Amino acid sequence: MFKRISAWVVVGLAAMSVAACGSGGSTTANTGGGGDSTITMGFSQVGAESGWRTANTKSVQDAAKNAGIELKFSDAQQKQENQIKAIRSYIQQKVDVIAFSPVVESGWDTVLKEAQNAKIPVILTDRAVDSKDTSLYKTFLGSDFVEEGKKAGKWLVEEYKDSTDPVNIVELQGTTGSAPANDRKAGFAEVIGAESKFKIVASQTGDFTRAKGKEVMEAFLKAQPDIDVLYAHNDDMGLGAIEAIEGAGKVPGKDIKIITVDAVKDGMQALADGKINYIVECSPLLGPQLMDLAKKVVKGEQVPVRVVTEETVFTQDQAKEVLSTRQY
Ligand code: AHR
Repeated sequence: MFKRISAWVVVGLAAMSVAACGSGGSTTANTGGGGDSTITMGFSQVGAESGWRTANTKSVQDAAKNAGIELKFSDAQQKQENQIKAIRSYIQQKVDVIAFSPVVESGWDTVLKEAQNAKIPVILTDRAVDSKDTSLYKTFLGSDFVEEGKKAGKWLVEEYKDSTDPVNIVELQGTTGSAPANDRKAGFAEVIGAESKFKIVASQTGDFTRAKGKEVMEAFLKAQPDIDVLYAHNDDMGLGAIEAIEGAGKVPGKDIKIITVDAVKDGMQALADGKINYIVECSPLLGPQLMDLAKKVVKGEQVPVRVVTEETVFTQDQAKEVLSTRQY
């Protein structure tokens, strides 16, 4: 295990080398060729709620192996209390670095303070926390969820640019209180809010799962006679909703236009098949960048406070082109 004392020694050596070079030197630590001490990372995953999450877990596990990092992995089954327990156990085990994808945004200050007091650096991955004290974590690696919501909204505005009729939208939100649910909702609402013809007639959580997406869409279909558009915060809920729409005798992608977020393989297949109309990509392949950041923070090197994932969008034609090479 790469003991924290080693990190402090490295920082000390770096400080000495900066001092030796005079002022204005970089704060980057010099490892002197580095030893082969193994870094131990404690990683608390949200759960296994979606295809995205499965791909993200694989990316983290594969990248740890490739980077020679010993990974202690736990699945919180979408429960914040399980994540807090896991983080406390990583603190007790004196891991070198803790990374986690917070299921919801609030309620992390106490446990993050405990990690800080134990001098264990924390990296947020995929989702953010709303802590005011940003010194409680070293960096946040993940998507810009507000931007994803805006991209979904922009497609809709363009799609209906020639229509003056009201456009009735139902929204399947992600897990209540999670950063992607909050931000995808906000970004989308901001863009469509500029035109009064767009009306969100129903909006409810489907917890990012296929089963809940289907169940909630069934309820929407019963309560709302004229649904034009479904905006689902992820592919899995969209795919569940497609089953509900077909079950109600309607044609997904035609009778009801569908926009989702993620671009996992099943979603891309439905897009290529014409059942989804547009997908905003959210990349789960965060593992390699996470391991690079972990190595740096353990060595005491400076890292950017925010690392935003690069992402694109897909139309039905683009999905047909890339489907066969899609990794996840
Ligand atoms: O935090 C990323 C989101 O979490 C993905 O969009 C969703 O599929 C997952 O469950």
